[in-house]
Amino acid sequence: MRVNGAERQAPGSARRLLSDYLRGDLGLTGTHVGCEHGVCGCCTVLLDGRAIRSCLMLAVQAEGHEVTTIESLSPEGAELHPVQRAFQECHGLQCGFCTPGFVMAICGLLAENPDPTQPEIEEGIAGNLCRCTGYASIRRAVRRAAELMQEPPPPASPGTPPTARGRVVQSPPPPASPGTPPTARGRVK
Ligand code: FES
Ligand code: FES
Repeated sequence: MRVNGAERQAPGSARRLLSDYLRGDLGLTGTHVGCEHGVCGCCTVLLDGRAIRSCLMLAVQAEGHEVTTIESLSPEGAELHPVQRAFQECHGLQCGFCTPGFVMAICGLLAENPDPTQPEIEEGIAGNLCRCTGYASIRRAVRRAAELMQEPPPPASPGTPPTARGRVVQSPPPPASPGTPPTARGRVK
């Protein structure tokens, strides 16, 4: 599978959860794990650009797919991704434990729907829980992120590494194959 644009070796065990593979095998600990049974959304990553819960999927199910984690949004030394800037501007986080999951869910939402209505925002983040209950600020951050993503990117400052500048970097999605796992945008069904 590809993770954040790089080819990665298959997990050692077919029973390894994608969340454990990302965190334990690849050291991508920005993907948090809370409930581990699909309720809280803090393990949300993108699979071929759509938000999914990495604790509900085996790593081997991601073979042949592109996984994108929070680490890819703003590599070291790069400017913040618009969704991250929006969280910063709108005070969309308190303890921050839920934040990577919300950010990835919102990236998936805005990739599908760049200008969501308030009900669409509500629905888009309905599968993520914030124990600090900062939902009002998070909703404002989604709206602000949508605005920021419409703006032309600011000029790069000298020495800034080339990045997606607000876009999630991905290779083109592979063709769907039999047994393709569900990608329900991270919502609880
Ligand atoms: S850890 Fe809670 S949904 Fe995955
Ligand atoms: S900011 Fe603390 S859980 Fe959401």
